[in-house]
Amino acid sequence: MTAADLVPVVTIDGPSGTGKGTLAVLLAARLGWQCLDSGALYRVLGLAAARRGIDLDDAPALAALAGNLGVSFVGGRVLLDGADLGDAIRTETAGMAASRVAVHPGVRAALLEWQRRQACPPGLVADGRDMGTVVFPRAGLKVFLDASAQVRAERRYKQLREKGLDANLPALVEEIAERDARDRNRAVAPLRAAADAVMVDSTALSINDVFDLVVEEVRRVFPDQVHEVAAE
Ligand code: DC
Repeated sequence: MTAADLVPVVTIDGPSGTGKGTLAVLLAARLGWQCLDSGALYRVLGLAAARRGIDLDDAPALAALAGNLGVSFVGGRVLLDGADLGDAIRTETAGMAASRVAVHPGVRAALLEWQRRQACPPGLVADGRDMGTVVFPRAGLKVFLDASAQVRAERRYKQLREKGLDANLPALVEEIAERDARDRNRAVAPLRAAADAVMVDSTALSINDVFDLVVEEVRRVFPDQVHEVAAE
């Protein structure tokens, strides 16, 4: 038993562009719990490696960097060595670099305990690829969120454009397919649903529909944690 097992945890795993991140933030706010965006960790590592001139295939150097990563999350902002990274980690290039550094077992091992330490009272919502399978295998509720590749690319396109970032839909479809294949086929902690995960296909659902559905699941598993929202 680890400290993480004493705190209620909801994990949300799935491929990119399913709305995991948005769902995790909304759910954490609704419950008043902490939120862990584990993808951001891998994105920061990819960016830090690029800044230090470390090759994304250099497993030992990346594992050493991961073990010493000066990352912090402050009110929705991501800081590296105290400096706000802004949207630099949200680009598709950063996502691709994250997916490449994430294949190295030493990198994943170096980031494991840091992630588990985020499970603090009153609870944690954690989103990523291996939250329910590796990082929090005893989480009370595990959600696996999926959607068709085309819809995921369209959502990612909209999200990037809204942030004022460059985006090209056909290129995104290809990049998402490449990233999915790497994340699903790597040897360590590949993207897959935990055997006990609740499967949600968001292809035809709005984020509000998905949110309502998952809040019902939380209510079922942690009946004391979902407090009614007072009517306006
Ligand atoms: O969720 P995201 O798009 O920010 O994740 C970026 C990449 O980081 C993803 O393609 C694979 C990697 N990742 C991972 O390997 N394990 C996680 N728990 C989260 C992300």
